Amino acid sequence: MRDIEYGVFLPIGSGGWIPSTNAPVLDGSYAANRTVVQLAERLGFHFTLSQAVWRGHGGATRHFDDNLESLTAAAGFGEATERIGLWGTVNTSMLHPAVAAKIIATSDQISGGRSGLNIVAGGNRAAERQMGIGLDLDNPEKYRRAAEWVSVVKALWTEPSVDFDGEFFTLRDCQSGPKPVQGVPRMICAATSDAGLRFVAEHLDGVMFEGITDDRVIEVGQRTRRIAHEQGAEHLKSLCIFMVVPGETDADAARRVQHYSQAKDTVALASLAAEFGAGAIPVDVTSNNADAAAWAQTMALSTGTLAGSPETLAERLAGLADAADLDSMIFIMPDFVDDLRVLGEEVLPILERNGYGSRLRTALPPLARL
Ligand SMILES: Cc1cc2nc3c(=O)[nH]c(=O)nc-3n(C[C@H](O)[C@H](O)[C@H](O)COP(=O)(O)O)c2cc1C
Repeated sequence: MRDIEYGVFLPIGSGGWIPSTNAPVLDGSYAANRTVVQLAERLGFHFTLSQAVWRGHGGATRHFDDNLESLTAAAGFGEATERIGLWGTVNTSMLHPAVAAKIIATSDQISGGRSGLNIVAGGNRAAERQMGIGLDLDNPEKYRRAAEWVSVVKALWTEPSVDFDGEFFTLRDCQSGPKPVQGVPRMICAATSDAGLRFVAEHLDGVMFEGITDDRVIEVGQRTRRIAHEQGAEHLKSLCIFMVVPGETDADAARRVQHYSQAKDTVALASLAAEFGAGAIPVDVTSNNADAAAWAQTMALSTGTLAGSPETLAERLAGLADAADLDSMIFIMPDFVDDLRVLGEEVLPILERNGYGSRLRTALPPLARL
């Protein structure tokens, strides 16, 4: 028996995660995403989560050119749902922690205590550069800043008045009401460098990373456990994002992958490669950015994709959950209605039967077929 929480990574960015003109068109709109969140809730997923993206990559697929603001979208979903957890992402270099603390407290009141927060500490250079933020911090410095940011947010959520003297933030009798209704919402960070993992183990509840390749998932999962153990942070959860392409049979799924790969959006992929590709950013070799050439290919469905029948997908996911010691699996997929139904109605039941977590049981009536 392995306790697993299941999540959906929402397509709040236009084009989704497959820069191919053969992929289903995802417009990234609020209305489309509200439907996905409502469907995820009825299928028993534990939470949805969305990215904080401020600059797209163009091309025929308009890859992420329109990207909703993550925290605002999550606040809206609070009105549209009853049970599911709603996580948003914020870049700690872009929003003062006192502003973020109040946004999350407000969102938590709207949803009745279902908010969670994913933070990124900065690293998306093109997005930051266009705003003149240009931190260009090396990893240790960016995580020192993020550590202060998190301390301020937690203090404002729990204390009537906060005085804080930091390297990056100064607060004097800073007050923030209302407090979140659930107490302190769970916080995670998307990071894979050693510096990032150490920061998460010390300050947060979980770390999120991508399933670029099986080996990479296992390596990051095991490194997360080792660092958490070294720091006495046994509570630390590891959450992995998987791109899944279901088919009725393995051959059907393979045909889908091939179809998408035949019409790659080379403009968007070139932009991604320039932003994240090997040598584009001098980073700690343990960071996912160091592996970004592979990552750009993942986006085009060359590597890192789990494709197959529901039985095959369940077997592959269970194997990776064990090998990487995962606490949560978060899914992206080509089509967030039909593929999400296959995941919720066929793949997750197999995983549950085999002892991998249990879905959120809802008393909600089924949503009419979409
Ligand atoms: C799973 C995952 C999701 C991410 N999501 C975002 C995001 O939504 N917005 C963003 O600006 N950066 C995002 N990033 C990028 C990170 O901010 C950036 O890669 C950072 O350098 C990761 O930290 P590291 O250097 O410690 O690995 C994400 C990174 C990972 C691994």
